[in-house]
Amino acid sequence: MAILNIIEEGDPLLRKTSRPVEEITPRIITLLDDMIDTMRKADGCGLAAVQVGVLRRICVIETEPGTVYELINPKIIAFSGHQENPEGCLSVPGKASITSRPMYVTVRATNRKGEVYDLTGSELLARCICHEVDHLDGKLFIDEGIHLRPYVEKRKK
Ligand code: NI
Repeated sequence: MAILNIIEEGDPLLRKTSRPVEEITPRIITLLDDMIDTMRKADGCGLAAVQVGVLRRICVIETEPGTVYELINPKIIAFSGHQENPEGCLSVPGKASITSRPMYVTVRATNRKGEVYDLTGSELLARCICHEVDHLDGKLFIDEGIHLRPYVEKRKK
């Protein structure tokens, strides 16, 4: 296992489009393992390969502790509804926004075994799927059309 370095906003790599994975090699498997470790260490609920400097269409999601989804070449195939909720990113530390996202999202992806599967999520999982797939196209949650307004957590007295 290895904890990888997470690049931050301002790094031009975050604005690039990631390339599809054509073959699931041992290198890809190691990358998935390292991405999961890195996401957990950083206390995040999702991570895209570009965030660790690898321009491949891969992301990992863990919105419920213990349930990790590996998404290779993910493609959103359906979405509906609307939500406005807080969102942040490990590559944009210290910032959070209320974003505009669909309430329900279905993504088709491949897992490490090469199996194609569909994952449908609502609420946080739907936001996370959109957020991670956006990363693969060089988009961030602070961008126009996604970001609605800054989010400031209310603190108890
Ligand atoms: Ni992010």
